Amino acid sequence: MARSLSAAALLPLLRTLADGAWHSGAVLAREAGITRAALAKRVRKLQQWGVAIETQPGRGCRLAQPLELLDAARIRDALPAAWRDPVTVRVLPSTDSTNSQLMAAGAGDPQVLLAEHQTAGRGRQGRAWHSPFGANLYMSLAWTWPQWPAAVTALPLAAGVATAQALAALALPGVRLKWPNDLWCGDAKLGGILIEQRGEASGACRVVIGLGLNVAMRGAPATAIDQPWTTLTDCAGTVPSRNALAARILAHWLDMLERFGAEGFAPFASAFRELDLTHGRAVTVRLPEGSVGGIARGVDGTGALLVDTGEAQRRIFSGDVSLRLAS
Ligand code: BTN
Repeated sequence: MARSLSAAALLPLLRTLADGAWHSGAVLAREAGITRAALAKRVRKLQQWGVAIETQPGRGCRLAQPLELLDAARIRDALPAAWRDPVTVRVLPSTDSTNSQLMAAGAGDPQVLLAEHQTAGRGRQGRAWHSPFGANLYMSLAWTWPQWPAAVTALPLAAGVATAQALAALALPGVRLKWPNDLWCGDAKLGGILIEQRGEASGACRVVIGLGLNVAMRGAPATAIDQPWTTLTDCAGTVPSRNALAARILAHWLDMLERFGAEGFAPFASAFRELDLTHGRAVTVRLPEGSVGGIARGVDGTGALLVDTGEAQRRIFSGDVSLRLAS
């Protein structure tokens, strides 16, 4: 019976190819102790994950671009000293969804899971999140507060603020937030955040914050993403390594979560206002019961979007916002 290839079998091959140089198929197969046919199968599996591998008769194979793999120890070591001990960081080559994995995980928060590739990445509003191998960041953090913080409904906005501030601290400015927490650069989406939460029997509140950030994504199939998208390498030019990006974003998230638990959304409200892409602009909000059009007037203390329809001010708690260009 054909067995499916495990990530553990594929990782050594990836590590060898990560330098972007040509590697002879005969040598790769010999080093792995497998046949050429088995090697070809591994290469095909990596290509299915979205790894761009070129093959050429006589030369073997190479990655289209050199790749620095995510590294849990490097990420943890780059965290501020105060967070290094309490936080557990893990990296998987491939998983269904880092959010799903952490939602199902037991004790041990704060814990972080990153994956090079997701087979069932999830976005807001039940959408899929396109997650090709090695190009982007797919990262989730699970955190538990002993009791529910005030205005937890505004946590997605505070998470967006913390992420945009982390990117600005890495000299990647210009990222704005489209309510509630889409990261935009120019007029395209750079990343998104999915927050899931549940109450524990003890009265504690557990949240999982998941970020999908396009870092160096190329050629996503048009069917995979249903809105204009961009990637850090296009909107910011030189980009730090994904390990450095992950560590800086995590550091900002952890500080934000600690403060949010004590003070709620208030300390993040003015930063959200400055980053808010829609403030004062004509928007359309798609709701299950139909669309609402009007001028966006910022958010209230619960994180609800305020839309002035001309007749009333509507509070929007969940939905898809799009900018109306002819405003
Ligand atoms: C959005 O719709 O904008 C939110 C996208 C969130 C995607 C990230 S990728 C890491 C984590 N795991 C998931 O399945 N989703 C989030």
